[in-house]
Amino acid sequence: MKIRIAIITALETHKVRHPVLRKGRPLASCAMDGDNKKSTVHWGAYLEHTLVGVVSLFSTPEHLDTQPNCKQIRGMAVLKNYRNKGIGKALILCLENHAQKTTTAYLWMNARKRSIAFYEDLGYCKKGSFFEIEPIGTHGYLYKFLN
Ligand SMILES: CC(C)(COP(=O)(O)OP(=O)(O)OC[C@H]1O[C@@H](n2cnc3c(N)ncnc32)[C@H](O)[C@@H]1OP(=O)(O)O)[C@@H](O)C(=O)NCCC(=O)NCCS
Repeated sequence: MKIRIAIITALETHKVRHPVLRKGRPLASCAMDGDNKKSTVHWGAYLEHTLVGVVSLFSTPEHLDTQPNCKQIRGMAVLKNYRNKGIGKALILCLENHAQKTTTAYLWMNARKRSIAFYEDLGYCKKGSFFEIEPIGTHGYLYKFLN
């Protein structure tokens, strides 16, 4: 099935963030600081007319290095029944394409431990030790320099 990726609003991301990233928690917990800033971009992946995956790019200064022109990836999620179909990869490639066009040189994120191999396949590198983000769980810091 053909994946269509479009820019969506912060509120629309909640349809996927909630069941995947904030399961069992209030809908309001889906909101992230800076979601509605002008510099923040949200993408949604559609199969037919169903929103099945989301990812967001924030212009948050990263906290381990002092990298110029850096942006933070957050809220990456694909609905359970739609995983391993290339949707997550398509979202990240779309985000990276946008980042390159807007002269972003460095992408970073705090990634859930279980998803790190997914990002490593896409060229992201882990730095530092694992750490806990309560109540979500163990995370690692990942980064990628863009050409
Ligand atoms: C991580 C996640 C976004 C991946 O999305 P997806 O649509 O299933 O990923 P894709 O189908 O695009 O996978 C691309 C490649 O990564 C691999 N992959 C996917 N998830 C993986 C994982 N958790 N660990 C290792 N490899 C993974 C796929 O097998 C595929 O490999 P291939 O190109 O050799 O076939 C999805 O599993 C998810 O939403 N997980 C729960 C929420 C989460 O952890 N989000 C990340 C927060 S930091």
